[in-house]
Amino acid sequence: MRSEEKIFIQALQGKKTSRPPIWLMRQAGRYLPEYKEVRKEAGSFLDLCFNPELATEVTLQPIRRYSFDASILFSDILVIPHALGQKLWFAEGEGPKLEALKGEEDFEHLTAANLHEILGPVYQTVRNLRQSLPKETALIGFAGAPWTVASYMIEGGGTKDFMKLKKWAFGKPALFQRLIDLLVDVTADYLLKQVEAGAEALQIFDSWAGVIPAAELKRWSLDPIERIAKKVKAAHPSIPVIAFPRGVGLGYLSFAESGVIDCLSLDQGLPLSWIKSNLQSKKVVQGNLDPVSLLVGGEHLETSVGAILKNLDGGPFVFNLGHGIIQYTNPDHVTLLVELVCGSD
Ligand code: CP3
Repeated sequence: MRSEEKIFIQALQGKKTSRPPIWLMRQAGRYLPEYKEVRKEAGSFLDLCFNPELATEVTLQPIRRYSFDASILFSDILVIPHALGQKLWFAEGEGPKLEALKGEEDFEHLTAANLHEILGPVYQTVRNLRQSLPKETALIGFAGAPWTVASYMIEGGGTKDFMKLKKWAFGKPALFQRLIDLLVDVTADYLLKQVEAGAEALQIFDSWAGVIPAAELKRWSLDPIERIAKKVKAAHPSIPVIAFPRGVGLGYLSFAESGVIDCLSLDQGLPLSWIKSNLQSKKVVQGNLDPVSLLVGGEHLETSVGAILKNLDGGPFVFNLGHGIIQYTNPDHVTLLVELVCGSD
C-alpha cells in the first residue's frame, strides 16, 4: 500500500475519510503492562530510546492492541539536547533532568558535529518500523519545537513558572535567538533523516507554547516551526507536517494561516464549534479529547467523544487526545474509545 492510500495520510491531505483516523499521543507508554516489561529490560529510558530493537517493539505494542491508523516513532524530544552534548538523564519518577544552560559560555559545549551518529539508532528504529508495521498503518516521525526543547535546556527539567526560560527570551533575546536558530537547524536535519528512513508524516510538539505572551508567539513558536517545516519540505514537498502549539488559544488562528503546516493538533481548551468554523475551515484538525476523559472512561467518555465527532467529523479530521495519555489510564478505556470512533469496522 502506498503512503497516500493510508486513511491517516488521506485525512492529512484534506480528504474526507469514511471514518476519522485515530491515534493517540503517548500511545506507547506506562499505561501498558507490556511497555513496563520492556522498559525494565532496557534499563534506563534513554537506553530504550537508543535501542532500535526494543524501541521498535514498544512502538508496535499499541498497534497490536488497538490497530491505530498511525504509529508514532518511540523516542523523546530531548534526544536533541542529548545529541548536542548536553547532559540528560531521567530520574525515576521525576521526569527529565538536564545540566541547565546558564549563559553564553555554555554554547561552547553544544555541538552538532556528532548529531547523526548519536541519533543513528533512532533512524534505525524508523527503518525497522517501516518493515514491521501493518500495511495500512502510517508512521509518524516527530521532534520537539525549539521553544519547548529550549525550555528543558535552560530550566534543566520540568518547571511550573518558566522563569529562567522567559528571562532569556525577554532579557537576552539575541542570545536566545541563537539557541532557537541552532535548534531550528538541527531539528530540521533530524526530521529530514527520519523522512529518509521512512517516516510518512511529521509532528512538531510545542508543548509549552501556551506560556509565550501573545505578542511573541510568532517569533518564538510559529516562525521556528515554519522554518523547520520549510527546510524539510524543500527536500520532501509532500510530507505532511502537524504542529502542536499546545495551549495557545486564539493563537491557533495564526498557525491556521501557515502555508507549510498541514494539520493543527489541538488541546482541549477551545470550544468545538469555534474550532469548526475558525480552524477546520482552513486546516485539517487533530484532537482534542481531554486525557482525563479517557482516564475516567464510561458514560463521560462516550459523551465527550460524541461531542467531538458531532462537531468535527464533517471536515478533515484526525481523532486524538488534547495531550498525551495519562499513565494511570485503564487500557480497556482505550478499547472503548477506538470502538466509539471507528464503530465495528
Ligand atoms: O507514544 C508516543 O507518543 C511516542 C513517544 C514519545 C515520548 N515522549 C515517550 C516518553 C513522545 C512523542 C514524547 C514527546 C515528549 N517528550 C514531549 C512532547 C509531548 C508532551 O507530552 O507534551 C515532551 C514535553 C517530552 C519530555 C518528556 N519525556 C517528559 C516531560 C517526560 C516525563 C514525563 C513522564 O511522562 O514521565 C518524558 C519521559 C517519557 N517520554 C516517557 C515516555 C513513554 C516516560 C518515561 C518512562 O517510561 O520512564
